[in-house]
Amino acid sequence: MRSHLLNRTTAEDYRRSVTAGVDQVAARFASVERPFSGMDADGLGPVIDAIDLDRPLGDTAAALDELGEVYLRDAVYFHHPRYLAHLNCPVVIPAVVGEAVLSAVNSSLDTWDQSAGGTLIERRLIDWTAARIGLGPAADGVFTSGGTQSNLHALLLAREEAKLRPEEFGRLRILTSECSHFSVQKSAKLLGLGPDAVVSVPVD
Ligand SMILES: Cc1ncc(COP(=O)(O)O)c(C=O)c1O
Repeated sequence: MRSHLLNRTTAEDYRRSVTAGVDQVAARFASVERPFSGMDADGLGPVIDAIDLDRPLGDTAAALDELGEVYLRDAVYFHHPRYLAHLNCPVVIPAVVGEAVLSAVNSSLDTWDQSAGGTLIERRLIDWTAARIGLGPAADGVFTSGGTQSNLHALLLAREEAKLRPEEFGRLRILTSECSHFSVQKSAKLLGLGPDAVVSVPVD
């Protein structure tokens, strides 16, 4: 297990392993002919269930081969020109490089002493983004992991803006289209709103 730790003695292994992973994904991107193989959860379930987690494969190459079978082969490829379903955007290469760097360094952004650089970069980017949108100098923000967390943040701000005491939260209502994402319902629960808080509005 120690041999898997990323440190000065394993830097070369890190380079080799990540390159093998990148090669595997790049080959997939270069050859994939349709956005989706059609394999659904019912079909994939037994494949995933059959993996014996108590018997590790031994090395990264074997794990990548397995990943090809259980994930990459049937993943949905947003980058494909014929991908038209949901709103997911294609991925840009610099972002993938950024993610790879982040996962390797694994900074903890919760305190200044653990990540001055990362936190300053985040603040600078937020200020720059807010200025570009024209939100004014008082604007602030935070990067989120995606839609669920963004909806939660937005609804938290709305709840705070209502300036109610916790025992009054049951009065709050969220009007949301019947097509809205289920994370709105989840956020309402997390924010301590009542069971009837989300009002689904029909659309035509
Ligand atoms: C409107 C909306 N909110 C939330 C989400 C959930 O996003 P995530 O998976 O990034 O949390 C989605 C995902 O498609 C969405 O379309």
